[in-house]
Amino acid sequence: MNNSKEILLKAQKEGYAVPAFNCHNLETIQVIVEMANEMRSPVIIAGTPGTFDYAGRDYIQAIVEVASKKYNIPIVLHLDHHTDIDSIEESLELGTKSVMIDASHRSYDDNVKIVKEVVEMAHKHGATVEAELGMLGGQEDDLIVDEKDSKYTNPAQAVDFVKKTGIDSLAVAIGTAHGLYKEEPKLDFERLAEIRKVVDIPLVLHGASGVPEEQVRKAISLGITKVNIATELKIPFSDNLRKYLVEHPEANDPRKYMSDAKKAMSEVVKSKILMCMSENRY
Ligand code: 13P
Repeated sequence: MNNSKEILLKAQKEGYAVPAFNCHNLETIQVIVEMANEMRSPVIIAGTPGTFDYAGRDYIQAIVEVASKKYNIPIVLHLDHHTDIDSIEESLELGTKSVMIDASHRSYDDNVKIVKEVVEMAHKHGATVEAELGMLGGQEDDLIVDEKDSKYTNPAQAVDFVKKTGIDSLAVAIGTAHGLYKEEPKLDFERLAEIRKVVDIPLVLHGASGVPEEQVRKAISLGITKVNIATELKIPFSDNLRKYLVEHPEANDPRKYMSDAKKAMSEVVKSKILMCMSENRY
């Protein structure tokens, strides 16, 4: 399995972003890798702790390994928003090479200390590490952050954070939130440009669901090289599955009743790859 270093540095150099899609099971992983392969796009398959609790670290690892052998594009399994060091270690031992340790809700000093520890452990396994500075609003797994309490990334602190921790990529808080938005989000592009000026590692945009395409494109032009998308994939899958089952109350074959849901999700994956400009890169 690959880590994320090479694909993110290539994206950074060429001015596009690698999409990171959150998935939960065999079907959602298949939809994503099939479309990424068709479009020749690198892709990151992300799983939160909740996903691994649901499906099993070993199962998800095995599915992504099969996919990355099957297709001739970079496919990276990534631990999204992990907070528990033992779970990270378990995945590293299984062969996962891309990790996000999220200690952004802790004090700055604790964030540095925890992230540094994970970087040392992950690098021994040849894995790369993403960490977050500042706080996003919304909900990720069971974690709810009041939008008003969300704190944006401070550029000067980002320099110090990168230097002290040795991370490979930095998730920035510039006005996005997890989940859908009540009103159109306004990203702080000036802050992003400031951060890019002083931090040279790949920058990550969380909470991209519901952010208008031109805003994501602008963020990419200002240095974002990984774009995280979760909610916007879950919705078409669930809506179409529900619709099919309501319209076909006799349906009982998962091989058939998930078909429309997969197709709808696939279209969103396609549009997000186009948004990231990551097609035909491999
Ligand atoms: P959304 O659910 O808003 O797309 O956020 C995804 C994300 O940032 C995962 O880490």
